[in-house]
Amino acid sequence: MRFVALAFSLTLCPKPLMRPTAIETEIGQIPLQNCLYNASGARCTTGEELDSLARAPTGAVLAKSATIAYRKGNPKPRYRDIPFGSINAMGLPNLGIDFYLDYAAAFSAEKPLFLSVAGLTTAENHTLLKRIQKAAGVGAVELNLSCPNIPGKPQTGYDVAQTEHLLQGVFAFYDKPLGVKLPPYFDRVHFDQMAAVLNRFPLAFVTCINSMGNGLHIDVERETASLKPKGGFGGIGGLYAKPTALANVNRFYKLLDGIPIVGCGGVQTGTDVFEHILCGASAVQVGTSLMKEGLACFTRLGEELQSLMREKGYVRVADFKGKLKSL
Ligand SMILES: Cc1cc2nc3c(=O)[nH]c(=O)nc-3n(C[C@H](O)[C@H](O)[C@H](O)COP(=O)(O)O)c2cc1C
Repeated sequence: MRFVALAFSLTLCPKPLMRPTAIETEIGQIPLQNCLYNASGARCTTGEELDSLARAPTGAVLAKSATIAYRKGNPKPRYRDIPFGSINAMGLPNLGIDFYLDYAAAFSAEKPLFLSVAGLTTAENHTLLKRIQKAAGVGAVELNLSCPNIPGKPQTGYDVAQTEHLLQGVFAFYDKPLGVKLPPYFDRVHFDQMAAVLNRFPLAFVTCINSMGNGLHIDVERETASLKPKGGFGGIGGLYAKPTALANVNRFYKLLDGIPIVGCGGVQTGTDVFEHILCGASAVQVGTSLMKEGLACFTRLGEELQSLMREKGYVRVADFKGKLKSL
């Protein structure tokens, strides 16, 4: 009898017995076939790089943070692999928004293309978003708040009032899916203050975290800094950033009123991806590992994540998302 019932359900109702794509997810209203995709800035500046990412086993393609005009960026060396991660002071080299809008208009992959915006002033951010609003082919925008905005003031993400002012201006006209990318925070009051501001806006997602700012790596043999720009000071990514990234994902997951979190920072293994999701991330970006390992990291990370999920008996991302237990 049991055999007959099983045969019946296999032939007539195959769907309920089929496993859904184990690592599919959604960021708000945006479905992604795979919870993994590239972090902005890692191998996503040129058309060739974006084409390669479009073919990679990822849920989305995210482009390099764009300014209005082409930027050459800082003098080299401006990026270095370092033992547990990376350091960079790239200076926002990008091809300018026109290039990314043309690329989006022609984009035909079976996954969304996200643009990242990094205006150097509030006015530049508004101009960029007005251009994107009219454009075709853009799945969502990640507004990079880790940029200088007003000379003599900290980067926008470290200035709560300036962030609120920027977002008020943006949401006065922008009505397409838009998220923000935050720098890392280290003080509980800063989490609370930033979350209170973000909760006032219809954000599609919040990405935590950008590089940990102003690290210094030394080349001992030459007795110099490893990077040329900014006296060698640069943003730190990779394993150094993981505990801070997880703390930011988890804190904002708890403080934001249902705004999805995209985790970023320190992902080197499928276990790292699992930890980001357990802390509350709906999707997970990969920066330094993509720089070091190339596109192959996505196949490996996807397989490692799924193997850990199988071991733990989880069938889909939602089974463990945000379910970090207390001790
Ligand atoms: C070479 C490089 C360039 C980056 N450029 C950007 C950028 O243009 N916009 C941005 O939001 N983040 C940028 N980042 C930060 C990454 O997107 C990411 O937030 C950070 O590296 C932490 O992730 P990871 O530990 O996986 O590297 C860059 C990182 C690297 C390594």
